[in-house]
Amino acid sequence: MRYFGPEFLQRVSDSLNIADVIGSYIPLKKKGNRYWACCPFHHEKTPSFSVSPDKGLYYCFGCHAAGNVFTFVQKMENLSFPEAVEHLAEMAHIELPEEQVSEEDRKKQSEITAMYEAARLASDYFHNCLTKTRMGEAGLAYFRKRHLSAETIEAFKLGFAPPAWDRLFHDFTQKKNFAPKTLVDAGLVGYSNGRYFDMFRNRCMFPILNLKGKPVAFGGRVLDDSKPKYLNSPETPIFNKRRLLFALYQALPRIRETRQVIMVEGYMDAISLHAHGVTNVVASLGTAFTIEQARLLKRYADEVVFSYDMDAAGQNATRRALEIAETVGLRIRVARVGEGKDPDEFVNLHGGDAYLEAVRQAQPAMDYLLASLLRQYDATSLEGQQHILQEMFAVLTAREDSFLINSYIRKMARAMRVDEGLIRSEATRYVSRNRPGIYISPREPVKEAESRESQKQVRLEEGFLAYCLLYHTFPSAWPEMKDFPYASPFCQRLAEAIRAVETEGQTLTEKAVQQKLGPEDVEALAALLMKDDYAGTIPWEEFVRPLKLGYLQKEYKRHTEKAGELSQEQPEAAREEMLACIRLSREIRELQKKTSG
Ligand code: UTP
Ligand code: MN
Repeated sequence: MRYFGPEFLQRVSDSLNIADVIGSYIPLKKKGNRYWACCPFHHEKTPSFSVSPDKGLYYCFGCHAAGNVFTFVQKMENLSFPEAVEHLAEMAHIELPEEQVSEEDRKKQSEITAMYEAARLASDYFHNCLTKTRMGEAGLAYFRKRHLSAETIEAFKLGFAPPAWDRLFHDFTQKKNFAPKTLVDAGLVGYSNGRYFDMFRNRCMFPILNLKGKPVAFGGRVLDDSKPKYLNSPETPIFNKRRLLFALYQALPRIRETRQVIMVEGYMDAISLHAHGVTNVVASLGTAFTIEQARLLKRYADEVVFSYDMDAAGQNATRRALEIAETVGLRIRVARVGEGKDPDEFVNLHGGDAYLEAVRQAQPAMDYLLASLLRQYDATSLEGQQHILQEMFAVLTAREDSFLINSYIRKMARAMRVDEGLIRSEATRYVSRNRPGIYISPREPVKEAESRESQKQVRLEEGFLAYCLLYHTFPSAWPEMKDFPYASPFCQRLAEAIRAVETEGQTLTEKAVQQKLGPEDVEALAALLMKDDYAGTIPWEEFVRPLKLGYLQKEYKRHTEKAGELSQEQPEAAREEMLACIRLSREIRELQKKTSG
C-alpha cells in the first residue's frame, strides 16, 4: 500500500476547504461558523451533521461519525486511506510525490492489470454468449425456468460458458493476445497433462464484482443435477473470497440507505430477491461467513439479518455467523421463511413484500440462538444444559462486553428453567477460562451510580482538554493538572500530547496536537472539538475544581475502606490510612473554599 508523509497530507488538506469537499456530496447549510446537513452515514430527517471549516473537521451529533476530509472521502467513496489521499490531491491539483517502484513491483502490477482485463473480457464474453448466440440458448432457457427476466440478466450481467473444452482459452490467446499464464492466474483456465482447458464449461455464469464494480471471479452453475452444482473461481491475486460478498456492489446503495444488510446463502437467493425489489441483499460465496466480511459490512451497516436455509446445515452456519457478527459489533437478527424453503423459492412464491415482512419479524440473534439450542438439546439433562450454555456463552462473550452476558443470564435461566445463580457460576467459570477480561456480576448487573460518576468525570476531562485546544492556551490552572490521572484513556493520551507540545515550546494548536496523536485518535479528537465551543467558560470553576474534587473524594473513599479492612489485623497500617483520610479531607475543604486560581 502506498504511503504519504504528514507534510504531503497537510499540503493537501490545507489547499482544500472541507466544506467545499463535503458540499460536493451533500447539501450544506451555513449557521454561524459551521455548516449543517443530514448525516450521510446514518438515516435521519433533521440535520445533526456539522462541518467546521476552520478546524477542518466534521462531526455528527447523531451517530458520532467524525473525522477530516480524508476520512470523509474514504467513507463516502469506500476507498482505502491512500486512495482517498490520491483522490483529494487530484481535486486540489496537487501532483503526487514520486513513487519509488521496483522493477519487480512494476511487473507484478502489470500482471494484475492483465488479470483484471481478462476477468472483464471473460464477463463480457459469457454475457454475450448467453444473450446473443445459439450456444447460449440452453442457459437462457435455464434462467427463464428460474424466473429471471432479461432486465435481471442485464443487471447482474449473467452469462453462459459454452460447452467446448477450450473455446475461451482459444479466443483469448489467439484473438485477444492474452498470455496463457494470465488466464491460468486469473482462474479462467486450467492446465493439466500438457493441455490448457476452460475452467467453466456448459454452465450458467454469475460474475462476482469487487467493491468498485469490476468482475474478479465467477460462480458457474450446471444446468441439470450433475455435480458439483456450483463451481467457483479459485482465490487469485484479484479475488479474495474472505473479503468479498456476492451482489455487494449492487446492494451497496440500498445498504447505505437502510444501514441494514440481508445475508443469504446462495447466488440465486440474492438475485431473486433483488429482482423482487429487495436490494440490500448479499450472498456468502459458498464459504462460511468470515470476520473480514463482517468488518466490511460494518462499514456500511448497523444490522445484519441472516436469512439462511432453515435446514440443519443452515442453522449451523447461522450460529457460527452470529458469533462472528457479534465480534465486530453488528446488530444481528435471524429471519425465517417457511420450513424447507430457501429465500429464492419463497420470494418467487409469495413476493417481495411477504419476504420483507419476514425480515421485519426477524428474531434478535440471542433469542434465535437460545430457541434453536433448546430445540436441539434437552434442557432438563445436565449434559444438555452444558451444551446450551457453552454455545450461548461463546456468542455472548464474543465482543468482550460484560454487559451483554450479564443482562442475558436471567433470560436464559427462565427459558431453561434453571436457577439463575447456577448460570452465573457457570458463566464465571467459562469466562475465567476463555475470556478473563469479562466480569460476571454475582447477582444483579451494573452499579448504575458508579458508572454515572465516571461518565461525569470523562465529560469534565473532555471539556477541560477541549477548552485548552479551542482557545490555544494553557489556562492558569494547567500546572495543577500536570499529573492528573485521567479516567478516559483517550484523554490521558491527549493530555500527554498537549504536554509534549508544551515541552517543545510550540504553540498549542489542533494541528500540533494532532501530529502527536496516533491516527486511531483522530476521530475522537474531531468529535471532541466539534461538541461545544465553550464560550464564556471559566476553566478552573467548571472543569478543574470538579475534577480535582472528584479525584480527592474517590481517594478519600478508597483510604477509608482500606482503613476498615485493616483495622482488625494491622492496626498500625490502618492508622496510616486514617491519617491519609485526614490529609485528604483538609485538601478537599481547601479546594472547596478556593476560588478561581
Ligand atoms: P445451495 O446448495 O443451497 O444452492 O448452495 P442454491 O443457492 O439453493 O442453488 P440453486 O437454487 O439450486 O441454484 C448455496 C450456495 O453454496 C455455494 C453456492 O454459492 C451456492 O449459491 N455452493 C453450493 C457451491 O459453491 N458449490 C456447490 O457445489 C454448491
Ligand atoms: Mn436454491
